[in-house]
Amino acid sequence: MASQTAIITGAGRGIGLKIAEALVGAGYAVLGLDRNNDVVQAAKDVGAIGIAADLADPAAAAGAIASAIDQLGGVHLLVNNAGIFRSTPLLEISADEWDTVMAVNARTMLTTTQAVVPAMKAGGGGVIVNMASMGGKEGEPGQAHYAASKAAVIALTRVSAMELGPANIKVNCLCPGYVLTDMGAETRDPDLIAQWEARSPLGRLASTNDVAGHVTFLASEAGAYVTGQAININGGMIMY
Ligand SMILES: NC(=O)c1ccc[n+]([C@@H]2O[C@H](COP(=O)([O-])OP(=O)(O)OC[C@H]3O[C@@H](n4cnc5c(N)ncnc54)[C@H](O)[C@@H]3O)[C@@H](O)[C@H]2O)c1
Repeated sequence: MASQTAIITGAGRGIGLKIAEALVGAGYAVLGLDRNNDVVQAAKDVGAIGIAADLADPAAAAGAIASAIDQLGGVHLLVNNAGIFRSTPLLEISADEWDTVMAVNARTMLTTTQAVVPAMKAGGGGVIVNMASMGGKEGEPGQAHYAASKAAVIALTRVSAMELGPANIKVNCLCPGYVLTDMGAETRDPDLIAQWEARSPLGRLASTNDVAGHVTFLASEAGAYVTGQAININGGMIMY
């Protein structure tokens, strides 16, 4: 039986699914949440459990987290990875679109964090990893709402680390650069990819593995003294 337990949001595909696979490989019992029903099979395929839930609905999110903790018998690690991307010029972003991006990308992380903390405290501590983005430090044209939501994730992470540290709960966020997943796929072409690759001194974009490895590090003993950080995984595209 796995000694450590992890809940991952947005685990139906992309970065979240790769994190689930990596954590199963590291010996975790893993439960993935996603609004897409495909999460049930996708999680099963990597040795995890999947539950479908729309985390933008606070009541549904709280219920799904409670069910996840129940099924796992506790929770040591929460990875708040679920997110959406929109590309819209600044002057065309509607109030509804702004609210949707902020609700899914930032507010869901508050809701799930509130739902896991009592169980983490009961277990003597825990680890929370929030998925921000390079966009939260330096956005791109067309990404005002996305960039603002990821800056909110960075701020939420810092204050969460301050408030939860005394309960031995570490909170960090990851700031990946461009990762070739389905997210934003409709906005890219070979020229755009080449432009982004040229921004990295390493000359390439990120893989889902590049991101997943940081989660296993932060959840391990080696990462025990890291909290409140916004960690760049961007091949040196930005260095602050
Ligand atoms: N791909 C990139 O270049 C990149 C770069 C930096 C940060 N990120 C961030 O990494 C995370 C994962 O991105 P990805 O590229 O794997 O994207 P993706 O679109 O492939 O996966 C996101 C997953 O989140 C789920 N999701 C979205 N809204 C949800 C909701 N309300 N409730 C439950 N699940 C929901 C989706 O169904 C999907 O399975 C996101 O937070 C994204 O902003 C991505």
